[in-house]
Amino acid sequence: MNPDPNRRRVLLAAAAWLLASGARAATRLEPTPAQSAGPFYPTEPPLEDDQDLTRVRGGLGVAQGRITDLSGRLLDRDGRPISATRIEIWQCDATGRYHHPLDRGGARDPNFQGFGHTVTDAAGRYSFRTIRPVPYPGRTPHIHIAVFPQGERPFITQLYVRDEPRNAGDFLFDRIPPERRPLVLADFIPVQRDGVELAANFDLILEVTPRG
Ligand SMILES: [Fe+2]
Repeated sequence: MNPDPNRRRVLLAAAAWLLASGARAATRLEPTPAQSAGPFYPTEPPLEDDQDLTRVRGGLGVAQGRITDLSGRLLDRDGRPISATRIEIWQCDATGRYHHPLDRGGARDPNFQGFGHTVTDAAGRYSFRTIRPVPYPGRTPHIHIAVFPQGERPFITQLYVRDEPRNAGDFLFDRIPPERRPLVLADFIPVQRDGVELAANFDLILEVTPRG
């Protein structure tokens, strides 16, 4: 019996559609794992909160530590840019101290801002100038990140340094399932840039409610 050519065409088209939609689903980006904000989110607005954490207005110099350009994109799971969205980072200074009253460690680096914010551009890009994070007692180096997508709850996570030996055994890093840990790791790569020692690229992938 000869198969009906029309029926065959329909079946082929259906198979092609199924394959294509399967491929689309498979290429959805994995969302960045969320992490707790920790105890050192600023309790009062800092005097300065621009995207360059390595200089403080009126300060005498540049922050201690390895100056790093941190940049990346804010995307939804389909890879679409999330523009005009506030991103904040905060971290301790090169001596391991946060700008926070609860952190009563040693002397603070007066030239490190400790906290900064920016807003993503039309392509979802963001950038900060900061320092490579350093360890402090009980924690591997990390940078705290908060994202404030319009109409959504804030998204909070922490960025870690790839190949940093202290990651293994860090109590918060360990909470992320091993297969998802690459999603919070960035390479800190040496660069030849005036006054900048390292560059790190880190894309943030958010699960956001589709807008119609
Ligand atoms: Fe921290």
